[in-house]
Amino acid sequence: MANRDDDSKFKRRSQQWFGKIDKDGFAHRSWMKNQGHPNDLFDGRPVIGICNTWSELNPCNAHFREIADFVKKGVWEAGGWPLEFPVMSTGEVLMRPTAMLYRNLVSMDVEESIRGNPIDGVVLLMGCDKTTPSLVMGASSCDIPTIGLSGGPMLKGRYKKELLGSGTGVWQMSEKVRAGTMRIEEFMDAEAGMHRSKGHCMTMGTASTMASMVESLGLSLPGNAAIPAVDAQRYRLAQLTGRRIVEMVHEDMRLSKILTRKAFENAIKTLAAIGGSTNAVVHLLAIAGRIGVNLKLDDFELGSAMPNIVDIQPSGKHLMEDFYYAGGLPIVLKTIGESLHKDAITANGKTIWENVQNAENFDESVIRTLDNPFMANAGITILRGNLAPNGAVIKPSAATAKLLQHRGKAVVFETIEELHERINDESLDIDENSVMVLKNCGPKGYPGMAEVGNMPLPPKVLRKGISDMVRVSDARMSGTAYGTVVLHASPEAAAGGPLAFVQTGDWVTLDTAGRKLSVEVSDADMARRKEGWTPPKPPLDRGYWKLYIDHVLGADTGADLDFLVGKSGTPVLRESH
Ligand code: FES
Repeated sequence: MANRDDDSKFKRRSQQWFGKIDKDGFAHRSWMKNQGHPNDLFDGRPVIGICNTWSELNPCNAHFREIADFVKKGVWEAGGWPLEFPVMSTGEVLMRPTAMLYRNLVSMDVEESIRGNPIDGVVLLMGCDKTTPSLVMGASSCDIPTIGLSGGPMLKGRYKKELLGSGTGVWQMSEKVRAGTMRIEEFMDAEAGMHRSKGHCMTMGTASTMASMVESLGLSLPGNAAIPAVDAQRYRLAQLTGRRIVEMVHEDMRLSKILTRKAFENAIKTLAAIGGSTNAVVHLLAIAGRIGVNLKLDDFELGSAMPNIVDIQPSGKHLMEDFYYAGGLPIVLKTIGESLHKDAITANGKTIWENVQNAENFDESVIRTLDNPFMANAGITILRGNLAPNGAVIKPSAATAKLLQHRGKAVVFETIEELHERINDESLDIDENSVMVLKNCGPKGYPGMAEVGNMPLPPKVLRKGISDMVRVSDARMSGTAYGTVVLHASPEAAAGGPLAFVQTGDWVTLDTAGRKLSVEVSDADMARRKEGWTPPKPPLDRGYWKLYIDHVLGADTGADLDFLVGKSGTPVLRESH
């Protein structure tokens, strides 16, 4: 254990609760003893918080109590004292209006739970989409020794002879039903086949993307991203993670030593190489804002020339289980190694390159080589123009190549409800050359920036066998979705951005090569349209919703709350009695 300081236990945070020989120390120890803890646990050993997002309302994280038990084994083995604590769990498929509304709330829960308790180091148990960024954001604002552990993806989904990817399969089948090529009974039949084991979505959706971000940032042990939730290797990794966090406390290896500018640049390039979710953009920006790394939306262009080397849904055909059998993320990191900062330090104390240099690719049809990539120049692209002065994003690897350069007439929907009401109307004046524009789905507008940017296409277009159109909004898109979809347009409509003033019939140009998104409306006409405009009224106007709407920042900076940006460390706070 490098840098171990034998006296460090006397300076540890936890000793300022448990090491006191007075009435406060009595209270802290005595109440904890009601759980049967013997005296020697209070002797100054590292106290490790296990931050658990377990919930039966979050199916992707429903196995986390088992994972926590293995982490605890590791902590005990290494001489630490594990104490598990819950935080709010944001399940993507049940929470309304969108789990993203609560990402920042959970990050506050995490931050205050760590700072307010006798915790020296923390293990973050993360799985379903938002649980990863919210935990990393909260821990970043504390900046104590921290290690990440993902719950792992589900086994492959299947229906009849077909592979069924989480989310991706839902979008594909629902469009088939709307086009009249699949019966609704068959669609419903596929439910039980899609999700057949514990774990999170097994496409390269947001959960697997964020697990890959955690690994490429160096926040977890190597191999974390891909091991299936039900594989014994996942539980071995959990135990090793428990052992390692105790060492990290001895080494005082704080999060800021890992989450450097180099680490974020490595993550951005990895995001491109895996064809990862656009949601990673807002999450990485928010995490960087917490830890104090100067990361900007335009920095995502660092990945734009990177090929996508992983043939996995939603862009490709395989699933996370195949990715794991091929060797997982270490193979990707090794393959793109010459583009990475090889000296970026990771949670196990080694550099990212030391971790992956001997990794072996077991299936080059799943993880391709640089000279035979799945897709060239696949990184997320940042667009600007008079429709999104602060920026918008598009994922070319999920788009139709010929639509990446497109000019078409806007068909505007003021809300997602209006879209659902009108999209199936055969008299709607729309065809495959139109540009669908959706407003009021950004951070303030929805609120919470919902995953509705991949709008369903009109049935009359689908019946022609056309499966993609250019779509523009201030919303996000599920990492499991696909299409020529421009997202995160900033400033958002509800903040008075130009998107709010686009009208049906305006000409919109998407010029991905030129990084442009524009509407053919003069500045003077835009200003005239804006006269008398007021923001839409939210459905709830109190509590957390009000706090969120009043303080949320734009998607271009990560959609964090303005007063949460930055960190406050972990000062030991005053006693309560
Ligand atoms: Fe939880 Fe996809 S719904 S990861």
